[in-house]
Amino acid sequence: MIKPISGFSKLSKEEKINFLVDVYLGKSESTRSLIQGFWHNNTEDQKVFDEFSENTISNFYFPYGVVPNMMINQKLLCVPMVIEESSVVAACSKAAKFWLNRGGFNAKVISTTKNGQVHFIWKGDSDKLKSFFESVKEELINSVSPLVKNMEARGGGLLDIKLIDRTSDEPDYYQLWGDFETCDAMGANFINTILEALGNSFTDLVKANSEFQGEEKDLQVIMAILSNYTPECVVEAWVECPIEELQDPASDMSSQEFIEKFSRAIRISKIDVNRATTHNKGIFNGIDAVILATGNDFRAIEACGHTWASRHGKYQGLTDVTVNDGKFRFSLKLPLSLGTVGGLTALHPLARTSLEMLGHPNAKELMEVSACIGLAQNFAALRSLVTTGIQKGHMKMHLMNILNHLEANDEERKKAKLNFSTETISYQAVRDFINSLRQYH
Ligand code: MEV
Repeated sequence: MIKPISGFSKLSKEEKINFLVDVYLGKSESTRSLIQGFWHNNTEDQKVFDEFSENTISNFYFPYGVVPNMMINQKLLCVPMVIEESSVVAACSKAAKFWLNRGGFNAKVISTTKNGQVHFIWKGDSDKLKSFFESVKEELINSVSPLVKNMEARGGGLLDIKLIDRTSDEPDYYQLWGDFETCDAMGANFINTILEALGNSFTDLVKANSEFQGEEKDLQVIMAILSNYTPECVVEAWVECPIEELQDPASDMSSQEFIEKFSRAIRISKIDVNRATTHNKGIFNGIDAVILATGNDFRAIEACGHTWASRHGKYQGLTDVTVNDGKFRFSLKLPLSLGTVGGLTALHPLARTSLEMLGHPNAKELMEVSACIGLAQNFAALRSLVTTGIQKGHMKMHLMNILNHLEANDEERKKAKLNFSTETISYQAVRDFINSLRQYH
């Protein structure tokens, strides 16, 4: 039986691998070589990766791809994407090309305010707390001024604090709500630092006030943390063109029929939660891949996006379509809290390269690019779904994965590609085909 290990994090990387190989990986020397084979040749670079996280033993590679011809606000960009799923980059590239001749993508940042809360309990008199808060608000803000100085110099800072009474939801529960502008930083560390300081200052001010003598214990800070839900940090992306221009020469579907099916697909994403989830998953296929490529936090973006998708009390698809005066308009509006300075953006060599490829965008421009890629992804997915179906394109890309899995040689790959240019691709069909080639030999 395997016993728990203590002090694992204190072991060197080699010692950690020794432990894993001995205890969990069948003492396999080839697995040890595999793990070490993914180390960076340059030990200094590897050290950077090792220090991103704890208990690092190696690197786990994901494909780093690009979408060329992405016209955004009249600027032609090549957008980097990190994603393992076949067809996503191809789908975005297809949508980029489609809209290139129809005015390209447009995007506009609507707001950039982020927020966080000091969640606390106050068992005393509610009105007394509220008037006390108003009387010390200025002092509270001043108490964190040394911490916001640098951010203020960049044009940001703590914008406001409010006292929120949540006692109707949970007994004695209040929040100190902070609004923040973090400029080109995602700002999580900045916001959390300020919130913790505000929580401490508020506690100190209550303790020091003679009116609260004997009531100090009625105040208890539960936690201080930013919110990843940022409905005031929002961007909109859209494409538009005259209806006739939607006609695809490769398809026998009229533009009118296409729009009807497309609009119906959007409506279905608003009324059916099963479809809405997949619809939005496709949007995040695109957005997450840009977020990863630029060293941003895709978990924060996903969590926020799904909450936003539920803001009307029901989980819904994130994109919208309108047809007015002969014009088709397709749009995506969502909160995206991103940074182009700080965090991994400067540390990860390929994140740096991604930002350089995008022309060193500021955070607002990166919000615009990410939203456009999400929109492109959704357009490509819906276009396939309501015309040819998704599997044709997807399985063509997947054929490579199946052939890799079957360790097909060059000759077998050539024959398989030819055969499956007309045949339906499935794992079983490809395996049978390769087996038949091998048997024949
Ligand atoms: C696959 O990863 C994403 C799609 O299912 C999205 C969609 O259905 O809209 C193709």
